[in-house]
Amino acid sequence: MAGHERVVDDGHSVHARARYSLGAVSGPRRNVELKAVDPDPARTLARALASGASDEGVIVQRDTYFRVASGRLKLREEEPGEAHLIAYARPDDADVRVSSYRVVPAPDGTLAALSETLGVDVVVEKRRHLLLWETVRIHLDEVTGLGSFVELEAVAEGDSDLSREREQVAHLRDELGIGELREGSYADAIRGAPDPELLRMARDAAGRAYAPYSNFPVGAAVRTDDGRRYAGANVENAAYPQGQCAEASALGAMVAGGGGRVVEVVVAAPSEQECAPCGGCRQRLREFAGPDTPIHLADLERVRHTTTMAELLPLSFGPETLA
Ligand code: THU
Repeated sequence: MAGHERVVDDGHSVHARARYSLGAVSGPRRNVELKAVDPDPARTLARALASGASDEGVIVQRDTYFRVASGRLKLREEEPGEAHLIAYARPDDADVRVSSYRVVPAPDGTLAALSETLGVDVVVEKRRHLLLWETVRIHLDEVTGLGSFVELEAVAEGDSDLSREREQVAHLRDELGIGELREGSYADAIRGAPDPELLRMARDAAGRAYAPYSNFPVGAAVRTDDGRRYAGANVENAAYPQGQCAEASALGAMVAGGGGRVVEVVVAAPSEQECAPCGGCRQRLREFAGPDTPIHLADLERVRHTTTMAELLPLSFGPETLA
Protein backbone atom coordinates (compact mmCIF):
# COMPACT_ATOMS: atom_id res chain seq x y z
CA MET A 1 0.00 0.00 0.00
CA ALA A 2 1.47 3.32 -0.99
CA GLY A 3 1.67 6.08 1.53
CA HIS A 4 3.22 9.39 2.25
CA GLU A 5 5.20 11.07 4.87
CA ARG A 6 2.68 12.58 7.22
CA VAL A 7 2.48 14.70 10.27
CA VAL A 8 0.98 12.84 13.11
CA ASP A 9 1.30 12.19 16.76
CA ASP A 10 -0.08 9.10 18.35
CA GLY A 11 1.01 9.97 21.83
CA HIS A 12 4.59 8.86 22.03
CA SER A 13 6.90 10.64 24.37
CA VAL A 14 8.59 13.71 23.02
CA HIS A 15 11.63 13.50 25.21
CA ALA A 16 14.29 10.85 25.21
CA ARG A 17 14.45 10.91 29.00
CA ALA A 18 10.87 9.66 29.10
CA ARG A 19 11.49 6.90 26.60
CA TYR A 20 10.05 4.09 28.65
CA SER A 21 7.15 6.11 29.82
CA LEU A 22 4.92 8.48 27.96
CA GLY A 23 4.55 10.89 30.80
CA ALA A 24 1.38 12.90 31.09
CA VAL A 25 1.06 15.79 28.66
CA SER A 26 -1.82 18.17 28.32
CA GLY A 27 -1.12 20.19 25.21
CA PRO A 28 -1.03 19.14 21.59
CA ARG A 29 2.20 17.78 20.12
CA ARG A 30 3.17 17.21 16.51
CA ASN A 31 5.43 14.75 14.75
CA VAL A 32 6.46 14.31 11.16
CA GLU A 33 6.03 10.59 10.81
CA LEU A 34 6.39 7.80 8.29
CA LYS A 35 5.69 4.10 8.41
CA ALA A 36 6.83 1.33 6.05
CA VAL A 37 6.82 -2.43 5.94
CA ASP A 38 10.31 -3.61 6.92
CA PRO A 39 11.43 -6.68 4.97
CA ASP A 40 14.73 -6.87 6.85
CA PRO A 41 14.65 -5.48 10.42
CA ALA A 42 18.19 -6.71 11.19
CA ARG A 43 19.56 -4.69 8.28
CA THR A 44 17.54 -1.61 9.29
CA LEU A 45 18.88 -1.89 12.84
CA ALA A 46 22.45 -2.14 11.57
CA ARG A 47 21.97 0.89 9.29
CA ALA A 48 20.37 2.94 12.08
CA LEU A 49 23.27 2.23 14.40
CA ALA A 50 25.74 3.01 11.62
CA SER A 51 23.97 6.36 11.14
CA GLY A 52 24.71 7.25 14.73
CA ALA A 53 21.34 6.42 16.30
CA SER A 54 21.42 5.35 19.93
CA ASP A 55 19.90 2.03 20.94
CA GLU A 56 17.23 2.66 23.58
CA GLY A 57 16.20 -0.95 24.01
CA VAL A 58 13.05 -2.96 23.51
CA ILE A 59 9.58 -2.12 24.83
CA VAL A 60 6.63 -4.50 24.69
CA GLN A 61 3.49 -2.47 24.16
CA ARG A 62 -0.17 -3.34 24.23
CA ASP A 63 -2.62 -0.74 22.94
CA THR A 64 -6.30 -1.34 23.64
CA TYR A 65 -8.54 0.87 21.50
CA PHE A 66 -12.00 1.57 22.86
CA ARG A 67 -15.16 2.27 20.91
CA VAL A 68 -15.72 5.99 21.05
CA ALA A 69 -18.00 8.49 19.35
CA SER A 70 -15.19 10.59 17.89
CA GLY A 71 -11.40 10.59 17.78
CA ARG A 72 -9.48 7.71 19.28
CA LEU A 73 -9.00 6.50 22.81
CA LYS A 74 -6.47 3.84 23.72
CA LEU A 75 -4.87 2.42 26.82
CA ARG A 76 -1.16 1.87 26.28
CA GLU A 77 0.47 -0.64 28.60
CA GLU A 78 4.27 -0.80 28.35
CA GLU A 79 6.82 -3.26 29.65
CA PRO A 80 9.01 -1.76 30.96
CA GLY A 81 6.84 1.21 31.75
CA GLU A 82 3.43 2.19 33.01
CA ALA A 83 -0.09 2.40 31.64
CA HIS A 84 -1.38 5.60 30.09
CA LEU A 85 -4.66 6.60 28.58
CA ILE A 86 -4.14 8.41 25.30
CA ALA A 87 -6.92 10.43 23.68
CA TYR A 88 -6.31 11.88 20.27
CA ALA A 89 -7.93 13.15 17.14
CA ARG A 90 -6.40 12.68 13.75
CA PRO A 91 -7.92 13.32 10.35
CA ASP A 92 -7.78 10.13 8.31
CA ASP A 93 -7.88 11.54 4.84
CA ALA A 94 -4.90 13.86 4.46
CA ASP A 95 -1.34 12.85 3.58
CA VAL A 96 0.17 15.28 6.04
CA ARG A 97 -1.69 15.05 9.28
CA VAL A 98 -1.55 16.89 12.54
CA SER A 99 -3.15 15.36 15.57
CA SER A 100 -3.66 16.67 19.06
CA TYR A 101 -3.64 14.38 22.00
CA ARG A 102 -3.68 14.08 25.73
CA VAL A 103 -1.86 11.49 27.78
CA VAL A 104 -2.96 10.78 31.33
CA PRO A 105 -1.66 8.14 33.73
CA ALA A 106 -4.06 5.19 33.91
CA PRO A 107 -4.63 3.66 37.33
CA ASP A 108 -5.39 -0.03 37.86
CA GLY A 109 -8.91 -0.85 36.80
CA THR A 110 -8.94 1.50 33.80
CA LEU A 111 -8.95 -1.38 31.32
CA ALA A 112 -11.86 -3.12 33.02
CA ALA A 113 -13.86 0.08 33.54
CA LEU A 114 -13.61 1.21 29.93
CA SER A 115 -13.93 -2.28 28.40
CA GLU A 116 -17.15 -2.88 30.30
CA THR A 117 -18.70 0.43 29.36
CA LEU A 118 -17.36 1.63 26.00
CA GLY A 119 -16.31 -1.78 24.70
CA VAL A 120 -13.02 -2.74 23.05
CA ASP A 121 -12.61 -1.95 19.38
CA VAL A 122 -9.24 -3.57 18.71
CA VAL A 123 -6.05 -4.57 20.54
CA VAL A 124 -2.64 -4.00 18.99
CA GLU A 125 0.36 -5.83 20.49
CA LYS A 126 3.89 -5.14 19.44
CA ARG A 127 7.53 -5.47 20.35
CA ARG A 128 9.20 -2.14 19.71
CA HIS A 129 12.94 -1.69 19.35
CA LEU A 130 13.47 2.01 19.97
CA LEU A 131 16.38 4.06 18.65
CA LEU A 132 16.95 7.79 18.78
CA TRP A 133 18.68 9.91 16.18
CA GLU A 134 18.75 13.65 16.91
CA THR A 135 15.10 14.33 17.78
CA VAL A 136 13.82 11.46 15.64
CA ARG A 137 12.47 8.30 17.21
CA ILE A 138 13.12 5.19 15.13
CA HIS A 139 10.72 2.35 15.87
CA LEU A 140 11.51 -1.15 14.66
CA ASP A 141 8.15 -2.75 15.37
CA GLU A 142 7.10 -6.38 15.26
CA VAL A 143 3.32 -6.18 15.35
CA THR A 144 1.45 -9.35 16.25
CA GLY A 145 -0.51 -10.57 13.27
CA LEU A 146 0.82 -7.87 10.92
CA GLY A 147 4.59 -8.31 10.65
CA SER A 148 7.62 -6.02 10.82
CA PHE A 149 7.53 -2.28 10.30
CA VAL A 150 9.82 0.69 10.62
CA GLU A 151 8.50 4.04 11.80
CA LEU A 152 10.23 7.40 11.96
CA GLU A 153 8.86 10.13 14.17
CA ALA A 154 10.49 13.54 14.11
CA VAL A 155 9.22 15.43 17.08
CA ALA A 156 8.29 19.04 16.30
CA GLU A 157 9.31 21.87 18.56
CA GLY A 158 6.39 24.07 19.66
CA ASP A 159 5.56 26.24 16.66
CA SER A 160 8.00 24.69 14.18
CA ASP A 161 7.08 25.04 10.49
CA LEU A 162 8.12 21.36 10.27
CA SER A 163 10.74 21.92 7.55
CA ARG A 164 13.57 20.74 9.81
CA GLU A 165 11.59 17.66 10.85
CA ARG A 166 10.86 16.83 7.21
CA GLU A 167 14.56 17.10 6.39
CA GLN A 168 15.46 14.82 9.28
CA VAL A 169 12.93 12.22 8.16
CA ALA A 170 14.06 12.43 4.51
CA HIS A 171 17.68 12.02 5.57
CA LEU A 172 17.01 9.00 7.76
CA ARG A 173 14.72 7.44 5.20
CA ASP A 174 17.63 7.51 2.80
CA GLU A 175 20.15 6.24 5.35
CA LEU A 176 17.95 3.31 6.37
CA GLY A 177 16.93 2.47 2.80
CA ILE A 178 13.22 2.71 3.55
CA GLY A 179 11.22 1.99 0.42
CA GLU A 180 7.51 2.28 -0.19
CA LEU A 181 5.57 3.90 2.63
CA ARG A 182 2.40 2.67 4.19
CA GLU A 183 -0.71 4.58 5.14
CA GLY A 184 -2.93 4.05 8.11
CA SER A 185 -2.47 2.88 11.66
CA TYR A 186 -1.74 -0.59 13.01
CA ALA A 187 -5.21 -0.50 14.58
CA ASP A 188 -6.87 0.05 11.20
CA ALA A 189 -4.82 -2.76 9.67
CA ILE A 190 -5.67 -5.20 12.46
CA ARG A 191 -9.31 -4.25 12.41
CA GLY A 192 -9.42 -4.79 8.67
CA ALA A 193 -7.52 -8.09 8.61
CA PRO A 194 -9.67 -11.17 8.11
CA ASP A 195 -9.88 -13.93 10.66
CA PRO A 196 -7.20 -16.32 9.33
CA GLU A 197 -9.24 -19.44 10.09
CA LEU A 198 -12.29 -18.02 8.29
CA LEU A 199 -10.13 -17.23 5.27
CA ARG A 200 -8.73 -20.75 5.26
CA MET A 201 -12.20 -22.28 5.51
CA ALA A 202 -13.54 -20.22 2.59
CA ARG A 203 -10.57 -21.17 0.41
CA ASP A 204 -10.87 -24.85 1.33
CA ALA A 205 -14.58 -24.75 0.51
CA ALA A 206 -13.80 -23.19 -2.89
CA GLY A 207 -11.50 -26.13 -3.51
CA ARG A 208 -14.43 -28.50 -2.95
CA ALA A 209 -17.06 -26.56 -4.93
CA TYR A 210 -19.30 -28.40 -7.36
CA ALA A 211 -19.13 -26.08 -10.36
CA PRO A 212 -18.79 -28.26 -13.49
CA TYR A 213 -20.96 -25.95 -15.63
CA SER A 214 -19.46 -22.55 -14.89
CA ASN A 215 -16.00 -23.77 -13.87
CA PHE A 216 -16.20 -20.94 -11.38
CA PRO A 217 -15.70 -22.45 -7.93
CA VAL A 218 -16.57 -20.21 -4.98
CA GLY A 219 -16.18 -20.73 -1.24
CA ALA A 220 -17.76 -18.62 1.48
CA ALA A 221 -17.37 -18.67 5.24
CA VAL A 222 -19.24 -16.83 7.97
CA ARG A 223 -18.30 -16.22 11.59
CA THR A 224 -20.98 -15.74 14.24
CA ASP A 225 -20.93 -13.37 17.20
CA ASP A 226 -20.28 -16.28 19.56
CA GLY A 227 -17.26 -17.42 17.55
CA ARG A 228 -18.61 -20.28 15.44
CA ARG A 229 -17.52 -20.54 11.82
CA TYR A 230 -19.32 -22.16 8.90
CA ALA A 231 -18.28 -22.62 5.31
CA GLY A 232 -20.07 -23.50 2.10
CA ALA A 233 -19.38 -23.87 -1.60
CA ASN A 234 -21.40 -23.24 -4.73
CA VAL A 235 -23.38 -26.28 -5.83
CA GLU A 236 -24.41 -26.24 -9.47
CA ASN A 237 -26.96 -28.37 -11.25
CA ALA A 238 -27.58 -29.70 -14.76
CA ALA A 239 -30.86 -27.81 -14.52
CA TYR A 240 -28.93 -24.53 -14.29
CA PRO A 241 -31.37 -22.39 -12.27
CA GLN A 242 -31.21 -24.93 -9.44
CA GLY A 243 -27.59 -24.02 -8.72
CA GLN A 244 -26.80 -22.48 -5.36
CA CYS A 245 -24.20 -19.88 -4.42
CA ALA A 246 -21.46 -20.46 -1.84
CA GLU A 247 -22.89 -17.80 0.50
CA ALA A 248 -26.27 -19.54 0.57
CA SER A 249 -24.54 -22.84 1.39
CA ALA A 250 -22.53 -21.26 4.21
CA LEU A 251 -25.63 -19.64 5.69
CA GLY A 252 -27.48 -22.96 5.48
CA ALA A 253 -24.67 -24.62 7.43
CA MET A 254 -24.82 -21.83 10.00
CA VAL A 255 -28.57 -22.17 10.49
CA ALA A 256 -28.24 -25.95 10.81
CA GLY A 257 -25.41 -25.43 13.31
CA GLY A 258 -27.45 -23.20 15.60
CA GLY A 259 -27.96 -19.94 13.69
CA GLY A 260 -26.82 -16.61 15.09
CA ARG A 261 -25.61 -13.21 13.97
CA VAL A 262 -22.95 -12.98 11.28
CA VAL A 263 -20.02 -10.72 12.28
CA GLU A 264 -17.57 -11.51 9.45
CA VAL A 265 -17.75 -12.98 5.97
CA VAL A 266 -15.11 -14.23 3.53
CA VAL A 267 -15.92 -15.01 -0.09
CA ALA A 268 -13.05 -16.74 -1.89
CA ALA A 269 -12.70 -17.64 -5.55
CA PRO A 270 -9.58 -18.69 -7.44
CA SER A 271 -10.25 -16.16 -10.17
CA GLU A 272 -8.53 -13.18 -11.75
CA GLN A 273 -11.48 -10.95 -10.91
CA GLU A 274 -12.56 -10.48 -7.33
CA CYS A 275 -15.80 -12.29 -6.64
CA ALA A 276 -18.36 -10.07 -4.93
CA PRO A 277 -21.58 -11.64 -3.65
CA CYS A 278 -24.37 -11.60 -6.20
CA GLY A 279 -27.44 -9.46 -5.51
CA GLY A 280 -29.43 -12.34 -4.10
CA CYS A 281 -26.65 -13.34 -1.72
CA ARG A 282 -26.29 -9.77 -0.49
CA GLN A 283 -29.90 -9.99 0.61
CA ARG A 284 -29.33 -13.44 2.14
CA LEU A 285 -26.34 -12.17 4.15
CA ARG A 286 -28.28 -9.04 5.13
CA GLU A 287 -30.74 -11.20 7.06
CA PHE A 288 -28.03 -12.19 9.55
CA ALA A 289 -25.37 -9.47 9.28
CA GLY A 290 -25.20 -5.89 10.57
CA PRO A 291 -24.44 -2.87 8.38
CA ASP A 292 -20.80 -2.76 9.56
CA THR A 293 -20.13 -6.48 9.14
CA PRO A 294 -16.87 -6.78 7.16
CA ILE A 295 -17.00 -8.81 3.97
CA HIS A 296 -13.61 -9.86 2.63
CA LEU A 297 -13.30 -10.74 -1.04
CA ALA A 298 -10.34 -13.05 -1.53
CA ASP A 299 -8.57 -15.12 -4.10
CA LEU A 300 -6.13 -17.89 -3.23
CA GLU A 301 -3.25 -15.44 -2.72
CA ARG A 302 -4.68 -12.49 -0.85
CA VAL A 303 -7.71 -10.51 0.23
CA ARG A 304 -8.35 -8.24 -2.73
CA HIS A 305 -10.98 -6.04 -1.16
CA THR A 306 -12.72 -5.60 2.17
CA THR A 307 -16.14 -4.04 2.18
CA THR A 308 -19.15 -3.97 4.49
CA MET A 309 -22.71 -5.18 4.36
CA ALA A 310 -24.05 -1.62 4.10
CA GLU A 311 -21.69 -0.82 1.24
CA LEU A 312 -22.82 -3.89 -0.66
CA LEU A 313 -26.50 -3.36 0.07
CA PRO A 314 -27.38 0.22 0.97
CA LEU A 315 -30.90 1.25 1.94
CA SER A 316 -31.80 -2.38 2.41
CA PHE A 317 -34.89 -4.29 3.42
CA GLY A 318 -34.50 -6.51 6.48
CA PRO A 319 -36.25 -8.23 9.36
CA GLU A 320 -36.64 -4.94 11.28
CA THR A 321 -38.65 -3.51 8.41
CA LEU A 322 -41.31 -6.11 9.10
CA ALA A 323 -41.19 -5.75 12.87
N1 THU B 1 -21.35 -17.72 -7.28
C1 THU B 1 -21.27 -17.86 -5.92
O1 THU B 1 -21.22 -18.98 -5.40
N2 THU B 1 -21.22 -16.76 -5.16
C2 THU B 1 -21.24 -15.51 -5.65
O2 THU B 1 -21.22 -14.56 -4.89
C3 THU B 1 -21.22 -15.25 -7.10
C4 THU B 1 -21.43 -16.45 -7.95
C5 THU B 1 -21.38 -18.94 -8.09
C6 THU B 1 -22.70 -19.27 -8.65
C7 THU B 1 -22.30 -20.13 -9.84
O3 THU B 1 -22.17 -21.46 -9.39
C8 THU B 1 -20.96 -19.62 -10.24
O4 THU B 1 -20.51 -18.80 -9.18
C9 THU B 1 -20.98 -18.81 -11.53
O5 THU B 1 -21.97 -17.86 -11.47
